[in-house]
Amino acid sequence: MPMTIFMITMSFWNLGGSMKSSVYDCVILPLNKIHNRAGNITIVEGKKNIPFDVRRIYYLYDIPGGEARGGHAHKELQQLIVAASGSFNVLLDDGQNKKIVTLNRPNYGLVVVPGIWRELMEFSSGAICLVLASHKYDENDYVREFDMFKKLKLNFKL
Ligand code: TYD
Repeated sequence: MPMTIFMITMSFWNLGGSMKSSVYDCVILPLNKIHNRAGNITIVEGKKNIPFDVRRIYYLYDIPGGEARGGHAHKELQQLIVAASGSFNVLLDDGQNKKIVTLNRPNYGLVVVPGIWRELMEFSSGAICLVLASHKYDENDYVREFDMFKKLKLNFKL
């Protein structure tokens, strides 16, 4: 395929950022770890060792046993999810495929691309879920109804 046609095809493919995103785009990134006898340090730098700039950080903690978080998708937001302490599972769903990822090491992060339904569950006692996000908080970026999510995915709108 000539280069210009290839580039036009690719830009249509990327329209809207999240179009056609799949659970297979959500990868576990090994992060660095500098170790010495006093412990470890991991450094995360936006657009350097993760694919986006970080505009917001939040963390979940004191999660009661058996509780789940998430239960939504984002239209544009990209996230890196890290088990800063303890462990939990992340269920990813793109409307067709599902994937469950266990996070249990602070030097690994899960990249969640836009257009993916996620649920966080099975938190160990004392778990801390650290989230680095590509955008400021915007309730309009959330899809909180699973039926609506499925409909948007089916129509290639998410
Ligand atoms: P929500 O994203 O639904 O939490 P989770 O996915 O972990 O279950 O957010 C919970 C509440 O916190 C909701 O009322 C929105 C609010 N919130 C903010 O005000 N700013 C933020 O950056 C985030 C992540 C949540």
